[in-house]
Amino acid sequence: MSTSRRTVLAGAAAAAATLTATGTAHAWSGRLPSRELFGQLADGTKVYRWTLANGGTRLKVLSYGGIVQSLEIPDRRGRHANVSLGFDNLADYVAKSPYFGALIGRYGNRIAKGRFTLDGHSYQLPLNDGPNSLHGGDRGFDKRVWDIEPFTHGSDVGLVLRYVSPDGEAGYPGTLRVTVTYTLTAGGEWRIDYAATTDRATVVNLTSHTYFQLAGEGSGGVHDHTLELAAARYTPVDSTLIPTGELATVARTPFDFRRAKAIGADLREPHPQIVYGKGIDHNFVLDKGLTARPEYALTVGEPASGRVMRMYTTEPGMQFYSGNFLDGTLEGTSGRLYRQGDGFCLESQHFPDSPNRPEFPTTVLRPGAVLRSTTVHAFSTR
Ligand code: GLA
Repeated sequence: MSTSRRTVLAGAAAAAATLTATGTAHAWSGRLPSRELFGQLADGTKVYRWTLANGGTRLKVLSYGGIVQSLEIPDRRGRHANVSLGFDNLADYVAKSPYFGALIGRYGNRIAKGRFTLDGHSYQLPLNDGPNSLHGGDRGFDKRVWDIEPFTHGSDVGLVLRYVSPDGEAGYPGTLRVTVTYTLTAGGEWRIDYAATTDRATVVNLTSHTYFQLAGEGSGGVHDHTLELAAARYTPVDSTLIPTGELATVARTPFDFRRAKAIGADLREPHPQIVYGKGIDHNFVLDKGLTARPEYALTVGEPASGRVMRMYTTEPGMQFYSGNFLDGTLEGTSGRLYRQGDGFCLESQHFPDSPNRPEFPTTVLRPGAVLRSTTVHAFSTR
């Protein structure tokens, strides 16, 4: 183990001790976020870990990938736990992370054969998911170092993350200037605001790839969490997880979460879509559609801890991924192995493969326009 890794571990242990010592049910106040060294990339670039806390919520964010390395929220008795999957060291994030906690771009989700045409020009993106391009290719925004600036604003605290993606990076046209703001409110809500501009027409789909386990990271499967998802339709896929173009009803399928249902309830149904996804790995068409303000999308609950997370978004779609590809080979933050279904992701987004589906809400961004998107995670207990 390297010295830097030992330092990070010691730091984490000290932080955990503070939490236990300060006891339960306390709210953090909105002090300016602080940073510590988390590790160093092969080229010498230093990666920092920022800590921000407000209300009952504490986030730890890496300058590498804008990664949420830890997200602590209280249970119904006020006991905090880290409810996001991740690693305790930078090397694992660089070498083998399945996008744990990361910002995703330029295009979240899949583009068929990594190909699209825009204004008569054809573009070829790197293929990193079978025949398709996934999450911005083999070096997406999850593997870039972001400039980070902390702020306090009224009772809010937060970080502004900035990245400039050069024209042609990962095969995409246009210089894309991206700003992502993570805000913690005094009520402990975690809000993500995305903004982007370009100097040439391009396609963009930004999201966050946090894996949740509301009982606490490393504590086992998430199948008894309940999910209520306000989506009457979803986008069925082919065997490579590219949408067929249909907006199918969820009625009488394992994809019906219109009333709260255990995540694991129908994951073993022999439905062809469940076979393709090895569980659920699908985009849901949110009933509210694309909205100017974040509107209600879903509620997840974990019965034992009482933790509840509600999500509100401006986006028209939500990828629900039931952690199907976790296979017991990754050692998580607290030293436990992650097995299939030990975490789930809810990625607010435009629909997969939109650049090849003119009938889907557009992901085209043109010079002069500003892409804006917001997703809010509100935590409570019951
Ligand atoms: C996304 C995809 C999944 C999988 C995970 C990472 O959620 O939809 O198929 O690739 O990322 O493992």
